[in-house]
Amino acid sequence: MKAEAGVPQSPGVQSQTINDDAQGKQEPRGPQGELHPGTRRQSLIEDARREKASTSSSAAEEPRSWGTPACDGDPEGSTHLSLHITPRVGKKGGLSRAFKVFEAYGVRILNIESRPSKRSKNQVNGLEVFLRCELHRSDVSILLNSLKKVTDDVQIRRDEKVLWFPKKIWDLDQCNHLISNFEPDLDNNHPGFTDLEYRKRRAFITKMAYEYRHGNPLPKVDYTAEEITTWREVYRKLSSLYPTHACRQYLDAFYQLEKCCGYREDSIPQLEVVSRFLKECSGFQLRPAAGLLSARDFLASLAFRVFQTTQYIRHPSSPMHSPEPDCCHELLGHIPMLVDKEFAQFSQEIGLASLGVSDHDIEKLATLYWFTVEFGLCKQNGTIKAYGAGLLSSYGELMHALSNKPQLKPFDPEETAIQPYQDQMFQPIYFVSESFEEAKIKLREYAVRIKRPFSVSYDPYTSSIQVLDSPRAIKGALLQMKEHLISLCDALGSYPECNGNT
Ligand SMILES: [Fe+2]
Repeated sequence: MKAEAGVPQSPGVQSQTINDDAQGKQEPRGPQGELHPGTRRQSLIEDARREKASTSSSAAEEPRSWGTPACDGDPEGSTHLSLHITPRVGKKGGLSRAFKVFEAYGVRILNIESRPSKRSKNQVNGLEVFLRCELHRSDVSILLNSLKKVTDDVQIRRDEKVLWFPKKIWDLDQCNHLISNFEPDLDNNHPGFTDLEYRKRRAFITKMAYEYRHGNPLPKVDYTAEEITTWREVYRKLSSLYPTHACRQYLDAFYQLEKCCGYREDSIPQLEVVSRFLKECSGFQLRPAAGLLSARDFLASLAFRVFQTTQYIRHPSSPMHSPEPDCCHELLGHIPMLVDKEFAQFSQEIGLASLGVSDHDIEKLATLYWFTVEFGLCKQNGTIKAYGAGLLSSYGELMHALSNKPQLKPFDPEETAIQPYQDQMFQPIYFVSESFEEAKIKLREYAVRIKRPFSVSYDPYTSSIQVLDSPRAIKGALLQMKEHLISLCDALGSYPECNGNT
Protein backbone atom coordinates (compact mmCIF):
# COMPACT_ATOMS: atom_id res chain seq x y z
CA MET A 1 0.00 0.00 0.00
CA LYS A 2 0.97 3.49 0.23
CA ALA A 3 3.73 4.57 2.45
CA GLU A 4 3.30 7.05 5.20
CA ALA A 5 2.98 10.64 4.18
CA GLY A 6 6.32 12.23 3.59
CA VAL A 7 8.00 9.16 2.27
CA PRO A 8 9.15 9.95 -1.18
CA GLN A 9 8.10 7.92 -3.89
CA SER A 10 9.28 5.98 -6.53
CA PRO A 11 9.27 4.94 -9.91
CA GLY A 12 6.21 3.52 -10.03
CA VAL A 13 6.53 1.66 -12.43
CA GLN A 14 7.48 -1.20 -11.80
CA SER A 15 6.58 -3.49 -13.82
CA GLN A 16 9.04 -5.73 -14.34
CA THR A 17 12.41 -6.16 -13.33
CA ILE A 18 12.95 -9.69 -14.18
CA ASN A 19 15.96 -10.06 -16.35
CA ASP A 20 15.88 -13.75 -16.33
CA ASP A 21 18.08 -16.01 -18.23
CA ALA A 22 16.43 -18.52 -20.51
CA GLN A 23 18.98 -21.11 -19.46
CA GLY A 24 17.93 -20.84 -15.88
CA LYS A 25 21.25 -19.52 -14.68
CA GLN A 26 20.80 -17.79 -11.35
CA GLU A 27 17.23 -17.02 -12.13
CA PRO A 28 14.39 -17.65 -9.78
CA ARG A 29 12.13 -19.40 -12.22
CA GLY A 30 10.88 -22.95 -12.30
CA PRO A 31 10.78 -25.30 -15.28
CA GLN A 32 7.71 -23.62 -16.77
CA GLY A 33 9.21 -20.21 -16.49
CA GLU A 34 7.28 -19.46 -13.35
CA LEU A 35 8.84 -17.45 -10.61
CA HIS A 36 9.82 -19.38 -7.53
CA PRO A 37 7.56 -19.02 -4.54
CA GLY A 38 7.92 -15.65 -3.02
CA THR A 39 9.51 -14.09 -6.05
CA ARG A 40 6.39 -12.78 -7.73
CA ARG A 41 6.97 -9.54 -9.45
CA GLN A 42 5.29 -6.44 -8.36
CA SER A 43 3.29 -4.47 -10.86
CA LEU A 44 1.43 -1.23 -11.18
CA ILE A 45 -1.72 -3.23 -11.69
CA GLU A 46 -1.39 -4.99 -8.38
CA ASP A 47 -0.69 -1.66 -6.71
CA ALA A 48 -3.78 -0.17 -8.25
CA ARG A 49 -5.82 -3.21 -7.29
CA ARG A 50 -4.72 -3.00 -3.68
CA GLU A 51 -5.44 0.70 -3.63
CA LYS A 52 -8.88 0.07 -5.01
CA ALA A 53 -9.53 -2.70 -2.50
CA SER A 54 -8.58 -0.44 0.34
CA THR A 55 -10.84 2.31 -0.91
CA SER A 56 -13.71 0.24 -2.21
CA SER A 57 -16.04 1.39 0.49
CA SER A 58 -17.05 4.97 0.69
CA ALA A 59 -15.56 5.12 4.13
CA ALA A 60 -12.07 4.06 3.30
CA GLU A 61 -10.62 6.62 0.93
CA GLU A 62 -7.15 7.85 1.41
CA PRO A 63 -6.99 11.24 3.02
CA ARG A 64 -5.75 13.30 0.14
CA SER A 65 -8.37 11.93 -2.19
CA TRP A 66 -11.46 13.57 -0.89
CA GLY A 67 -13.02 16.89 -0.43
CA THR A 68 -13.79 19.94 -2.49
CA PRO A 69 -10.35 21.47 -2.15
CA ALA A 70 -8.90 18.21 -3.23
CA CYS A 71 -8.31 19.95 -6.50
CA ASP A 72 -6.80 23.06 -5.06
CA GLY A 73 -3.28 21.69 -5.26
CA ASP A 74 -2.76 21.75 -1.54
CA PRO A 75 -2.75 18.29 -0.02
CA GLU A 76 -2.13 19.74 3.43
CA GLY A 77 -4.40 21.72 5.71
CA SER A 78 -8.17 21.59 6.04
CA THR A 79 -10.72 20.34 3.56
CA HIS A 80 -14.48 20.37 3.11
CA LEU A 81 -16.58 17.24 2.83
CA SER A 82 -20.21 16.70 1.92
CA LEU A 83 -21.60 13.49 3.39
CA HIS A 84 -24.82 11.52 3.32
CA ILE A 85 -25.13 9.55 6.54
CA THR A 86 -27.76 6.97 7.31
CA PRO A 87 -27.85 6.66 11.12
CA ARG A 88 -28.76 3.34 12.63
CA VAL A 89 -32.34 3.17 13.78
CA GLY A 90 -33.66 1.00 16.55
CA LYS A 91 -30.58 1.81 18.50
CA LYS A 92 -30.88 4.66 20.86
CA GLY A 93 -28.75 7.63 20.01
CA GLY A 94 -27.73 6.48 16.52
CA LEU A 95 -27.16 10.00 15.25
CA SER A 96 -25.60 11.15 18.50
CA ARG A 97 -22.94 8.46 18.11
CA ALA A 98 -22.06 9.93 14.73
CA PHE A 99 -21.80 13.39 16.26
CA LYS A 100 -19.43 12.05 18.90
CA VAL A 101 -17.17 10.91 16.07
CA PHE A 102 -17.24 14.40 14.57
CA GLU A 103 -16.41 15.85 17.97
CA ALA A 104 -13.54 13.44 18.48
CA TYR A 105 -11.85 14.56 15.26
CA GLY A 106 -12.53 18.26 15.73
CA VAL A 107 -14.83 18.39 12.72
CA ARG A 108 -16.59 21.70 12.14
CA ILE A 109 -20.12 21.17 10.84
CA LEU A 110 -21.06 23.87 8.36
CA ASN A 111 -24.50 22.66 7.33
CA ILE A 112 -26.84 19.85 8.29
CA GLU A 113 -30.10 18.62 6.77
CA SER A 114 -32.16 15.47 7.14
CA ARG A 115 -34.74 13.57 5.14
CA PRO A 116 -36.42 10.16 5.21
CA SER A 117 -33.84 7.59 4.27
CA LYS A 118 -34.07 5.47 1.14
CA ARG A 119 -31.12 3.38 2.16
CA SER A 120 -31.81 2.44 5.75
CA LYS A 121 -31.85 -1.27 6.45
CA ASN A 122 -34.65 -0.51 8.87
CA GLN A 123 -37.21 1.18 6.71
CA VAL A 124 -39.32 2.55 9.52
CA ASN A 125 -38.38 5.94 10.90
CA GLY A 126 -35.10 5.93 9.04
CA LEU A 127 -33.39 9.22 8.33
CA GLU A 128 -30.71 10.27 5.96
CA VAL A 129 -28.58 13.17 7.06
CA PHE A 130 -26.76 15.49 4.74
CA LEU A 131 -23.76 17.18 6.29
CA ARG A 132 -21.26 19.64 5.03
CA CYS A 133 -18.24 19.92 7.26
CA GLU A 134 -14.66 21.06 7.55
CA LEU A 135 -11.78 19.01 8.95
CA HIS A 136 -8.09 18.44 8.61
CA ARG A 137 -7.31 16.59 5.41
CA SER A 138 -5.26 13.98 7.23
CA ASP A 139 -8.30 13.02 9.32
CA VAL A 140 -10.63 12.28 6.41
CA SER A 141 -9.88 8.60 6.09
CA ILE A 142 -10.09 7.80 9.80
CA LEU A 143 -13.25 9.89 10.16
CA LEU A 144 -14.98 7.96 7.38
CA ASN A 145 -13.94 4.63 8.82
CA SER A 146 -15.12 5.64 12.27
CA LEU A 147 -18.47 6.85 10.95
CA LYS A 148 -19.00 3.62 9.10
CA LYS A 149 -18.72 1.73 12.37
CA VAL A 150 -21.55 3.67 14.02
CA THR A 151 -23.93 4.21 11.08
CA ASP A 152 -25.72 2.11 8.49
CA ASP A 153 -24.18 3.94 5.58
CA VAL A 154 -21.81 6.78 4.74
CA GLN A 155 -21.58 8.21 1.26
CA ILE A 156 -19.50 11.00 -0.12
CA ARG A 157 -21.60 13.23 -2.32
CA ARG A 158 -20.74 12.33 -5.86
CA ASP A 159 -20.22 15.88 -7.04
CA GLU A 160 -17.70 16.37 -4.27
CA LYS A 161 -15.78 13.25 -5.12
CA VAL A 162 -12.90 14.92 -6.92
CA LEU A 163 -9.54 13.32 -6.51
CA TRP A 164 -6.49 15.42 -5.93
CA PHE A 165 -3.91 15.34 -8.66
CA PRO A 166 -0.83 17.40 -9.43
CA LYS A 167 -1.42 20.57 -11.45
CA LYS A 168 2.07 22.02 -11.50
CA ILE A 169 5.21 20.06 -12.15
CA TRP A 170 6.50 20.80 -8.66
CA ASP A 171 3.35 19.16 -7.26
CA LEU A 172 5.11 15.92 -8.16
CA ASP A 173 7.06 16.41 -4.93
CA GLN A 174 3.79 15.28 -3.34
CA CYS A 175 3.45 12.23 -5.57
CA ASN A 176 5.79 10.10 -3.59
CA HIS A 177 3.85 7.18 -2.23
CA LEU A 178 5.91 4.03 -2.15
CA ILE A 179 4.92 0.42 -2.38
CA SER A 180 7.52 -0.90 0.01
CA ASN A 181 6.59 -4.59 0.15
CA PHE A 182 9.37 -5.62 -2.19
CA GLU A 183 12.21 -3.69 -0.62
CA PRO A 184 15.09 -5.68 0.86
CA ASP A 185 14.32 -4.38 4.35
CA LEU A 186 10.84 -5.92 4.29
CA ASP A 187 10.84 -8.74 1.76
CA ASN A 188 12.65 -11.79 3.07
CA ASN A 189 12.71 -13.18 -0.47
CA HIS A 190 14.70 -10.22 -1.70
CA PRO A 191 18.22 -11.37 -2.64
CA GLY A 192 19.63 -8.59 -0.45
CA PHE A 193 17.46 -9.29 2.59
CA THR A 194 20.28 -10.75 4.69
CA ASP A 195 22.99 -8.50 3.26
CA LEU A 196 23.16 -5.57 5.63
CA GLU A 197 25.85 -3.83 3.57
CA TYR A 198 23.64 -3.96 0.49
CA ARG A 199 20.67 -2.62 2.41
CA LYS A 200 22.80 0.17 3.82
CA ARG A 201 24.04 1.11 0.36
CA ARG A 202 20.50 1.03 -1.07
CA ALA A 203 19.29 3.22 1.78
CA PHE A 204 22.10 5.69 1.09
CA ILE A 205 21.03 6.02 -2.55
CA THR A 206 17.31 6.20 -1.84
CA LYS A 207 17.89 8.91 0.77
CA MET A 208 18.97 11.19 -2.06
CA ALA A 209 15.69 10.48 -3.81
CA TYR A 210 13.73 11.16 -0.63
CA GLU A 211 15.37 14.53 -0.29
CA TYR A 212 15.00 15.50 -3.93
CA ARG A 213 12.67 18.34 -4.81
CA HIS A 214 11.71 19.54 -8.27
CA GLY A 215 14.34 21.91 -9.58
CA ASN A 216 17.21 20.37 -7.64
CA PRO A 217 20.12 18.87 -9.56
CA LEU A 218 19.55 15.17 -10.07
CA PRO A 219 21.58 13.13 -7.58
CA LYS A 220 24.86 11.68 -8.81
CA VAL A 221 25.72 8.18 -7.66
CA ASP A 222 29.35 7.05 -7.59
CA TYR A 223 28.80 3.42 -8.40
CA THR A 224 31.18 0.90 -6.88
CA ALA A 225 33.22 -1.65 -8.82
CA GLU A 226 30.89 -4.40 -7.62
CA GLU A 227 27.82 -2.50 -8.83
CA ILE A 228 29.41 -1.92 -12.22
CA THR A 229 30.20 -5.64 -12.46
CA THR A 230 26.50 -6.40 -11.99
CA TRP A 231 25.57 -3.79 -14.59
CA ARG A 232 28.12 -5.24 -17.04
CA GLU A 233 26.64 -8.71 -16.81
CA VAL A 234 23.13 -7.44 -17.43
CA TYR A 235 24.23 -5.07 -20.20
CA ARG A 236 26.16 -7.72 -22.12
CA LYS A 237 23.46 -10.30 -21.91
CA LEU A 238 20.62 -8.06 -23.00
CA SER A 239 22.42 -6.07 -25.66
CA SER A 240 23.21 -9.31 -27.47
CA LEU A 241 19.49 -9.78 -28.08
CA TYR A 242 18.50 -6.25 -29.02
CA PRO A 243 19.49 -6.33 -32.71
CA THR A 244 17.08 -9.19 -33.40
CA HIS A 245 14.36 -8.58 -30.84
CA ALA A 246 14.01 -4.85 -30.18
CA CYS A 247 11.95 -2.49 -32.30
CA ARG A 248 13.60 0.03 -34.59
CA GLN A 249 12.90 2.97 -32.28
CA TYR A 250 14.63 1.21 -29.41
CA LEU A 251 17.68 0.34 -31.48
CA ASP A 252 18.01 3.88 -32.85
CA ALA A 253 17.77 5.32 -29.35
CA PHE A 254 20.14 2.79 -27.84
CA TYR A 255 22.75 3.77 -30.39
CA GLN A 256 22.25 7.44 -29.54
CA LEU A 257 22.49 6.73 -25.81
CA GLU A 258 25.76 4.89 -26.32
CA LYS A 259 27.05 7.81 -28.33
CA CYS A 260 25.79 10.68 -26.15
CA CYS A 261 25.05 9.44 -22.64
CA GLY A 262 27.83 7.03 -21.77
CA TYR A 263 25.81 3.88 -22.22
CA ARG A 264 28.42 1.16 -22.11
CA GLU A 265 29.07 -1.99 -20.15
CA ASP A 266 31.74 -0.57 -17.83
CA SER A 267 29.81 2.50 -16.70
CA ILE A 268 26.33 3.08 -15.30
CA PRO A 269 24.88 6.27 -16.83
CA GLN A 270 24.00 9.13 -14.50
CA LEU A 271 20.42 10.39 -14.41
CA GLU A 272 21.46 14.01 -14.97
CA VAL A 273 23.12 13.18 -18.29
CA VAL A 274 20.31 10.93 -19.45
CA SER A 275 17.59 13.37 -18.38
CA ARG A 276 19.20 16.25 -20.27
CA PHE A 277 19.40 14.11 -23.40
CA LEU A 278 15.80 12.92 -23.08
CA LYS A 279 14.59 16.48 -22.63
CA GLU A 280 16.20 17.47 -25.93
CA CYS A 281 14.80 14.45 -27.76
CA SER A 282 11.25 14.09 -26.53
CA GLY A 283 10.65 16.54 -23.69
CA PHE A 284 10.76 13.79 -21.07
CA GLN A 285 12.85 14.32 -17.97
CA LEU A 286 13.81 12.14 -15.03
CA ARG A 287 13.43 12.51 -11.32
CA PRO A 288 14.87 10.14 -8.75
CA ALA A 289 12.62 7.67 -7.02
CA ALA A 290 13.24 5.74 -3.84
CA GLY A 291 11.52 2.56 -4.90
CA LEU A 292 8.28 1.33 -6.39
CA LEU A 293 5.66 4.07 -6.64
CA SER A 294 1.92 3.75 -6.33
CA ALA A 295 0.21 3.41 -9.70
CA ARG A 296 -1.64 6.71 -9.34
CA ASP A 297 1.48 8.70 -8.51
CA PHE A 298 3.59 7.08 -11.16
CA LEU A 299 1.03 7.57 -13.91
CA ALA A 300 0.49 11.19 -12.81
CA SER A 301 4.17 11.96 -13.33
CA LEU A 302 3.89 10.74 -16.92
CA ALA A 303 1.31 13.46 -17.56
CA PHE A 304 4.14 15.99 -17.07
CA ARG A 305 6.57 13.97 -19.17
CA VAL A 306 8.43 13.09 -16.01
CA PHE A 307 9.72 9.57 -15.53
CA GLN A 308 10.45 8.57 -11.96
CA THR A 309 13.60 6.48 -11.88
CA THR A 310 15.38 4.37 -9.29
CA GLN A 311 19.17 4.65 -9.02
CA TYR A 312 20.17 1.70 -6.87
CA ILE A 313 21.11 -1.57 -8.55
CA ARG A 314 19.97 -5.13 -7.92
CA HIS A 315 21.83 -7.46 -5.57
CA PRO A 316 25.06 -8.89 -7.07
CA SER A 317 24.01 -12.45 -6.25
CA SER A 318 21.08 -12.15 -8.65
CA PRO A 319 22.10 -10.10 -11.69
CA MET A 320 19.29 -11.55 -13.81
CA HIS A 321 16.49 -10.82 -11.42
CA SER A 322 15.28 -8.11 -9.12
CA PRO A 323 11.95 -8.13 -7.31
CA GLU A 324 11.82 -4.35 -7.47
CA PRO A 325 12.69 -1.76 -10.12
CA ASP A 326 16.36 -0.86 -10.29
CA CYS A 327 18.62 1.15 -12.57
CA CYS A 328 19.07 -1.79 -14.97
CA HIS A 329 15.34 -1.96 -15.58
CA GLU A 330 14.97 1.81 -15.92
CA LEU A 331 18.04 2.59 -18.00
CA LEU A 332 17.93 -0.43 -20.30
CA GLY A 333 14.19 -1.07 -20.37
CA HIS A 334 12.50 2.31 -20.25
CA ILE A 335 14.85 5.10 -21.21
CA PRO A 336 15.57 4.16 -24.84
CA MET A 337 11.88 4.12 -25.73
CA LEU A 338 11.33 7.49 -24.08
CA VAL A 339 13.77 9.00 -26.58
CA ASP A 340 11.19 8.42 -29.32
CA LYS A 341 8.72 11.31 -29.68
CA GLU A 342 5.77 9.18 -30.69
CA PHE A 343 6.26 6.81 -27.78
CA ALA A 344 6.79 9.73 -25.40
CA GLN A 345 3.45 11.14 -26.51
CA PHE A 346 1.79 7.76 -25.97
CA SER A 347 3.25 7.58 -22.45
CA GLN A 348 2.05 11.06 -21.62
CA GLU A 349 -1.44 10.24 -22.90
CA ILE A 350 -1.72 7.42 -20.35
CA GLY A 351 -0.59 9.83 -17.65
CA LEU A 352 -3.09 12.51 -18.64
CA ALA A 353 -5.88 9.94 -18.74
CA SER A 354 -5.11 8.96 -15.14
CA LEU A 355 -5.50 12.39 -13.53
CA GLY A 356 -8.41 12.55 -11.13
CA VAL A 357 -10.03 9.28 -12.22
CA SER A 358 -11.45 6.62 -9.93
CA ASP A 359 -9.40 3.80 -8.47
CA HIS A 360 -11.28 1.45 -10.78
CA ASP A 361 -10.05 3.37 -13.82
CA ILE A 362 -6.54 3.66 -12.40
CA GLU A 363 -6.46 -0.12 -12.27
CA LYS A 364 -7.50 -0.31 -15.92
CA LEU A 365 -4.92 2.26 -16.96
CA ALA A 366 -2.25 0.43 -14.97
CA THR A 367 -3.23 -2.71 -16.89
CA LEU A 368 -2.96 -0.83 -20.18
CA TYR A 369 0.44 0.41 -19.06
CA TRP A 370 1.49 -3.14 -18.20
CA PHE A 371 0.59 -4.56 -21.60
CA THR A 372 2.07 -1.66 -23.57
CA VAL A 373 4.88 0.29 -21.92
CA GLU A 374 6.06 -2.78 -20.01
CA PHE A 375 5.20 -5.74 -22.25
CA GLY A 376 4.18 -4.26 -25.57
CA LEU A 377 4.97 -5.72 -28.98
CA CYS A 378 4.67 -3.99 -32.32
CA LYS A 379 4.76 -4.84 -36.00
CA GLN A 380 7.66 -3.66 -38.10
CA ASN A 381 8.33 -4.69 -41.68
CA GLY A 382 6.13 -7.73 -41.31
CA THR A 383 7.76 -9.01 -38.12
CA ILE A 384 6.99 -8.67 -34.46
CA LYS A 385 9.38 -6.66 -32.29
CA ALA A 386 9.47 -5.71 -28.62
CA TYR A 387 9.09 -2.21 -27.23
CA GLY A 388 8.01 -2.95 -23.65
CA ALA A 389 10.54 -2.23 -20.90
CA GLY A 390 9.67 -5.41 -19.04
CA LEU A 391 10.69 -7.36 -22.11
CA LEU A 392 13.72 -5.31 -23.04
CA SER A 393 15.15 -5.70 -19.55
CA SER A 394 14.37 -9.41 -19.30
CA TYR A 395 16.44 -11.84 -21.35
CA GLY A 396 14.19 -14.81 -20.71
CA GLU A 397 10.89 -13.08 -21.32
CA LEU A 398 12.18 -11.29 -24.39
CA MET A 399 13.02 -14.69 -25.89
CA HIS A 400 9.66 -16.08 -24.82
CA ALA A 401 7.60 -13.16 -26.14
CA LEU A 402 8.99 -13.51 -29.64
CA SER A 403 8.79 -17.29 -29.73
CA ASN A 404 5.76 -19.20 -30.97
CA LYS A 405 4.60 -19.97 -27.41
CA PRO A 406 2.53 -16.97 -26.32
CA GLN A 407 -0.77 -15.84 -27.81
CA LEU A 408 -0.61 -12.51 -29.64
CA LYS A 409 -3.61 -10.21 -29.87
CA PRO A 410 -4.07 -6.84 -31.57
CA PHE A 411 -3.90 -3.96 -29.15
CA ASP A 412 -7.42 -2.91 -28.22
CA PRO A 413 -7.60 -0.71 -25.11
CA GLU A 414 -11.06 -1.94 -24.12
CA GLU A 415 -9.88 -5.56 -24.13
CA THR A 416 -6.34 -4.90 -22.94
CA ALA A 417 -7.49 -2.87 -19.92
CA ILE A 418 -9.28 -5.87 -18.44
CA GLN A 419 -6.87 -8.61 -19.51
CA PRO A 420 -5.72 -10.61 -16.45
CA TYR A 421 -1.98 -10.25 -16.14
CA GLN A 422 0.55 -12.81 -15.09
CA ASP A 423 2.99 -12.10 -12.30
CA GLN A 424 4.15 -15.64 -11.55
CA MET A 425 5.53 -16.56 -14.94
CA PHE A 426 5.94 -15.19 -18.42
CA GLN A 427 2.88 -13.55 -19.93
CA PRO A 428 0.78 -16.05 -21.89
CA ILE A 429 -0.73 -13.18 -23.92
CA TYR A 430 0.86 -10.11 -25.45
CA PHE A 431 -0.77 -7.27 -27.32
CA VAL A 432 0.62 -6.12 -30.64
CA SER A 433 0.30 -2.54 -31.91
CA GLU A 434 0.45 -1.71 -35.58
CA SER A 435 2.36 1.46 -34.69
CA PHE A 436 2.72 3.89 -31.79
CA GLU A 437 0.59 6.35 -33.75
CA GLU A 438 -2.21 3.81 -33.95
CA ALA A 439 -1.79 2.90 -30.28
CA LYS A 440 -1.93 6.57 -29.31
CA ILE A 441 -5.14 7.18 -31.26
CA LYS A 442 -6.80 4.11 -29.75
CA LEU A 443 -5.70 5.12 -26.27
CA ARG A 444 -7.05 8.64 -26.78
CA GLU A 445 -10.41 7.24 -27.86
CA TYR A 446 -10.41 5.04 -24.76
CA ALA A 447 -9.45 7.91 -22.48
CA VAL A 448 -12.33 10.16 -23.53
CA ARG A 449 -14.74 7.47 -22.40
CA ILE A 450 -13.35 7.49 -18.85
CA LYS A 451 -15.83 9.26 -16.63
CA ARG A 452 -14.60 12.41 -14.95
CA PRO A 453 -16.27 15.81 -14.72
CA PHE A 454 -13.55 17.60 -16.65
CA SER A 455 -10.94 17.19 -19.34
CA VAL A 456 -7.28 18.03 -19.02
CA SER A 457 -4.57 19.28 -21.30
CA TYR A 458 -0.89 19.86 -20.71
CA ASP A 459 0.57 23.32 -21.08
CA PRO A 460 4.22 22.84 -22.02
CA TYR A 461 4.98 26.56 -21.53
CA THR A 462 4.22 26.41 -17.82
CA SER A 463 4.70 22.67 -17.29
CA SER A 464 1.24 22.55 -15.83
CA ILE A 465 -2.08 20.82 -16.27
CA GLN A 466 -5.00 22.84 -17.56
CA VAL A 467 -8.27 21.61 -16.09
CA LEU A 468 -10.95 22.10 -18.72
CA ASP A 469 -14.02 22.14 -16.52
CA SER A 470 -15.82 25.23 -17.78
CA PRO A 471 -16.50 27.05 -21.07
CA ARG A 472 -14.09 29.74 -19.93
CA ALA A 473 -11.27 27.26 -19.34
CA ILE A 474 -11.89 25.56 -22.67
CA LYS A 475 -11.98 28.91 -24.45
CA GLY A 476 -8.66 29.86 -22.85
CA ALA A 477 -7.06 26.66 -24.05
CA LEU A 478 -8.47 27.17 -27.56
CA LEU A 479 -7.09 30.71 -27.70
CA GLN A 480 -3.67 29.42 -26.76
CA MET A 481 -3.92 26.78 -29.46
CA LYS A 482 -5.11 29.40 -31.95
CA GLU A 483 -1.97 31.45 -31.30
CA HIS A 484 0.12 28.39 -31.93
CA LEU A 485 -1.74 27.57 -35.15
CA ILE A 486 -1.32 31.13 -36.40
CA SER A 487 2.44 30.85 -35.87
CA LEU A 488 2.51 27.56 -37.77
CA CYS A 489 0.40 28.96 -40.62
CA ASP A 490 2.70 31.98 -40.86
CA ALA A 491 5.67 29.64 -41.04
CA LEU A 492 3.96 27.56 -43.68
CA GLY A 493 3.39 30.71 -45.72
CA SER A 494 7.15 30.96 -46.16
CA TYR A 495 7.02 27.85 -48.29
CA PRO A 496 4.84 28.54 -51.32
CA GLU A 497 5.34 25.03 -52.55
CA CYS A 498 3.27 23.85 -49.61
CA ASN A 499 0.27 25.97 -50.55
CA GLY A 500 -2.52 23.89 -51.91
CA ASN A 501 -1.33 20.85 -50.04
CA THR A 502 -2.56 21.95 -46.64
FE1 LIG B 1 8.99 -0.48 -15.42
